[in-house]
Amino acid sequence: MSNIFRKKQIGDLLKRKEGIQLKQTLGAFDLIMLGVGAIVGTGIFILPGTVSATHSGPAIVISFIIAAFVCALAGMCYSEFSSAIPVTGSAYTYGYIVFGEIIAWLVGWALVLEYGLAAASVATGWSSYLVSLLEGLNITIPQSLSGPFNPSGGTYINLPAILIVLAISYLLSRGMQESAKINKIMVFVKVGVIVLFIVVGVFYVKPDNWQPFMPFGFDGVLAGAALVFFAFLGFDAVSSAAEEVKNPQRNLPIGIIGSLLVCTLLYIIVSLVMTGIAPYTDLNVSNPVSFVIQLVGQDWIAGVISLGAVTGMMTVILVMLYGGSRLLFAIARDGLLPKILYKVNPKYQTPVLNTWIFGIAVAFFAGIIPLNKLAELVNMGTLLAFMIVSIGVIFLRKNKEIPAGGFKVPLFPVLPIVSFFACLFLISQLSIHTWIACGIWFLVGIILYLIYGRGHSKLNH
Ligand code: ALA
Repeated sequence: MSNIFRKKQIGDLLKRKEGIQLKQTLGAFDLIMLGVGAIVGTGIFILPGTVSATHSGPAIVISFIIAAFVCALAGMCYSEFSSAIPVTGSAYTYGYIVFGEIIAWLVGWALVLEYGLAAASVATGWSSYLVSLLEGLNITIPQSLSGPFNPSGGTYINLPAILIVLAISYLLSRGMQESAKINKIMVFVKVGVIVLFIVVGVFYVKPDNWQPFMPFGFDGVLAGAALVFFAFLGFDAVSSAAEEVKNPQRNLPIGIIGSLLVCTLLYIIVSLVMTGIAPYTDLNVSNPVSFVIQLVGQDWIAGVISLGAVTGMMTVILVMLYGGSRLLFAIARDGLLPKILYKVNPKYQTPVLNTWIFGIAVAFFAGIIPLNKLAELVNMGTLLAFMIVSIGVIFLRKNKEIPAGGFKVPLFPVLPIVSFFACLFLISQLSIHTWIACGIWFLVGIILYLIYGRGHSKLNH
């Protein structure tokens, strides 16, 4: 039994890293760009509308602030880990070091769910913006081909969502050299249209629309916070770049906290403007940002915003697919999943097979399964990983192998403990269906570990 809690040694990991020598090229600004590229997606282009209509009302701003607070706490814990142990694998690797194999596996299993379902959800959001954009150009995609399998609702398959996931998987399988450059361009486009939305929209704000501010009470605002938490996902991707960062002790925390700050600011302003332009009851649509701009008669600008959203959401899909496939790679490298996921294609130097297996699974979910209930699962999986990272910091500090210097969470150990409970609190706000679905996912994970991972783990040797 004890061998399911066997640990990796930090010294070994750092030594192995010295042997690999990835080029350290990324600075603090690059990391913030990477973070914003990974974070800003459906969380700004869709959630402020749907969540304010159904849970928070105009107080969606408060929901965003609560979620940002929880993420900032967890972000600091991530920063301490990534600056102490700048190796890939993120929370999965951290769990392996401080808590042992079974916890690491469960964190990895939760993150596979996060990355996979998040990529699928963002792909469906992307698809709805594309459909509305094309409609503006008088091109109609048949309804039957633009939604999940739901014959009574007249939709069978979400073709655009499937195609974008497969296209990005193709890109990823061909190597990632140009990706940082492309990412920067896309981030500028994305932030550009958001600023355009704010600058145009602010002239149409009617403060009356902010009343009643909390139509669903504070409970609604809290439940809303657990949903818009999704909007902040992706900042952990910054810590995955650890091995390629210059001066990681300084730059990683700046990258993580900096990108969270930028995103929080954007989310707050966009939701204020959006709920100021139209009554929150009208916002339950699949493309609320361009919808409200259309409402005030600025069709052209609405078109530009849709185009920017379609471009910008692609980076989120890319980062999530990348994160998921590299995580499977790391887990398979440790022997906990079959070797096939750890095979590198000699021509492209990427795990091509792994990328396609993950991409096709995500495309299936994006194209066929109605995701609205499943999307909450993403938040659950991520919050669980955050809890492990938060409490892990306390154990990390006890480890004598950690090199001195580096970022340290302030107010230790209060802050990591608050972070742990804040995540737990958000989890408690999620629906019972999500709890059940998550329970099933973990049960499958534990069975898989017992019948495969435990026997094949590299730590057996
Ligand atoms: N944070 C990402 C988004 O909002 C997942 O699309």
